[in-house]
Amino acid sequence: MKFYIETYGCQMNVADSELIASILTSAGHQEVNQISEADLILFNTCSVRAHAEERVLGRIQSEMHRKKENLHLQIGVVGCMAQRLGKEINKNNLAVDFIVGVDQYQNLPKIIIDETENTLLTKLDATQLYKDIQPVYHHNYCAYVTIMRGCNNFCSYCIVPYLRGRERSRPWQDIIQDTISAGNNGRKDITLLGQNVNSYLDGEVNFPQLLTKLNELVNIYRLRFITSHPKDLSEELIKVLANSAKICEHIHLPVQSGSDRILKTMNRNYTVQHYKTLVDKLHNSIPKIAITTDIMTGFPGETESDFQKTLTLMETLEFDDAFCYKFSPRTGTAAATFSNQVPESERLVRLQQMIELQRRITLKKNKEQIGHKVEVYVEGYSKKSRKMVFGKTRDFKTAVLPGTEDDFGTLKQIEVRDATASTLICF
Ligand code: SAH
Ligand code: SF4
Ligand code: F3S
Repeated sequence: MKFYIETYGCQMNVADSELIASILTSAGHQEVNQISEADLILFNTCSVRAHAEERVLGRIQSEMHRKKENLHLQIGVVGCMAQRLGKEINKNNLAVDFIVGVDQYQNLPKIIIDETENTLLTKLDATQLYKDIQPVYHHNYCAYVTIMRGCNNFCSYCIVPYLRGRERSRPWQDIIQDTISAGNNGRKDITLLGQNVNSYLDGEVNFPQLLTKLNELVNIYRLRFITSHPKDLSEELIKVLANSAKICEHIHLPVQSGSDRILKTMNRNYTVQHYKTLVDKLHNSIPKIAITTDIMTGFPGETESDFQKTLTLMETLEFDDAFCYKFSPRTGTAAATFSNQVPESERLVRLQQMIELQRRITLKKNKEQIGHKVEVYVEGYSKKSRKMVFGKTRDFKTAVLPGTEDDFGTLKQIEVRDATASTLICF
């Protein structure tokens, strides 16, 4: 069969789509890049906010017509929304062929040849690590390497632990193997993935030790990781970040709120002061480090004064970038049951203020780089011109520079000439 995968949500889903592609390819099927060529369409979905689900439901709906044109076409839903909604997905005026949850991808080859309609397979498997499956990487020059699955933190707003089950770490030897093989195939920029990489533990090997081992590999240029939970960011880790040449000067450290009262009801297990101390330590040990974050507004009980504390924290810490969200109640989480919900209209007003503030800060931070030399790992042609290429700097900013296809997958040293809120301009 010719299959096409459309991926939504976080990097974890991107990596899972690469596992799915591997599982289906090994079973003799062929991946295609055009939805119109496919006789199997998979939607790998996200449930983190209501909006993420609405978007993908709309997409599935708009592709349903293809089943009339191609009677053999199968449409399947996988990922976090499949896990959460199961057969309820079909209540939205849809008739998908199968719904497969995050720990059941090895059954996909069986399911797609099975004539039974409406297959549902969403059992979580606490030991599932997709061992011995070599992902089919979808990016030519960068690779995501999953180091752990699941989450144990139960932040009170978050649906992820319910959908992805308990935290478990992959054997460090498998991670090394995947990284070497990605590097040997020209993917020199590696991002390690987990919902909270700081709590990685395989036997005696913790996250700083894993990073130390990976830093010694000769066939990769760069290492990154997402996501770090502030409560588990250790001194040992900061030392390793400071002393490992391949680890990039960037950390994504979600703060969520600038109010201790809100952080407490979010069940985040740190205070604003703790977070600020971490940021100081990071800056002191790694002077060039860029810090990015996730911030939420409109969490139940968030007063105007709590919100002002978040804005003040953003002004004080000047994050290089921030993903700003408004709280979205997720059925089954604690926060969805809290009685003091903030009205949607208020959440929206606050979100817009946050986005505006961050845009200003990001622009300022990017402009500070004008006149400096940066190292860019070239990933592809720029969107605007085939005479230009783009890539990421070590501190995770997108740079555009002159170049050709020969530069893809290589490092370039270049001066920043100008900057916008999204791009460093190097020409
Ligand atoms: N494990 C990661 C990522 C979790 S999801 C972490 O802990 O950082 C990515 C971001 O989505 C979160 O950091 C949070 O800011 C946001 N998010 C999660 N649940 C949400 C909800 N119910 N409403 C709004 N934003 C949410
Ligand atoms: Fe969700 Fe918190 Fe786990 Fe991140 S750490 S996935 S925000 S429960
Ligand atoms: Fe990721 Fe969305 Fe699932 S953020 S873990 S794809 S709910």
